[in-house]
Amino acid sequence: MRNILIAPSMLAGDFSRMGEEARRMEQAGADWLHLDVMDGQFVPNITFGAPVIQALRPCTKLFFDVHLMIRQPERLLRDFIQAGADSITMHIEAIDAALLPGVIKEIREASKLVALSVKPATPVDQVCPYLECLEMVLVMTVEPGFGGQSFLPDMLPKVRALREEITRRGLSTRIQVDGGINEQTIAQAYAAGADCFVAGSAVFDSSDAKRAIERLREFTMND
Ligand code: DX5
Ligand code: ZN
Repeated sequence: MRNILIAPSMLAGDFSRMGEEARRMEQAGADWLHLDVMDGQFVPNITFGAPVIQALRPCTKLFFDVHLMIRQPERLLRDFIQAGADSITMHIEAIDAALLPGVIKEIREASKLVALSVKPATPVDQVCPYLECLEMVLVMTVEPGFGGQSFLPDMLPKVRALREEITRRGLSTRIQVDGGINEQTIAQAYAAGADCFVAGSAVFDSSDAKRAIERLREFTMND
């Protein structure tokens, strides 16, 4: 049985009360808080940046899992690290391959976890050359940019192939899935090899977030 993490996504929270929403997730038993940063360029939507994450930092002890959906993330890495990110996920499509090794090193030297993400159309092989230096790979299970979309089951073979590769190399890299995770799809993603689950609407839209998180956990235990 894999040790799994549930990471509620603040994107589905009430942005007028982000501090309270973060505390609500902490009390509900979330493992991580997923923070979606969008720039209106890499994805067709804008959310928030490092200053907002910094303002949120004193409100909770939760691990901040920062998902950067921004072009050229290397420009702003320092800001996100200083704002209190605990892990930084960059999209492989958003960064120049020549810069990637240096950027990964910079994040590791700041003692933060590093992850790379692939959009639905990007083959997962693209992250394989970097696997040894990553704590996590995020396989997007919707087109990034918006919450509340339906899970793309065609992403499951990517999760499976990646899990096989991680096992083959004897690594402990986590596989995160993000988008459309609910009680049905979490079981499928877990069975394919994922062990970190972002859930926006499935947790925040529930009147009982604690129960929603517990139910998601239970649906990974039925294999
Ligand atoms: C989408 C974001 C997701 C989003 C997931 O681009 O990366 O984190 O919040 O929302 P749900 O769980 O509602 O699909
Ligand atoms: Zn996300």
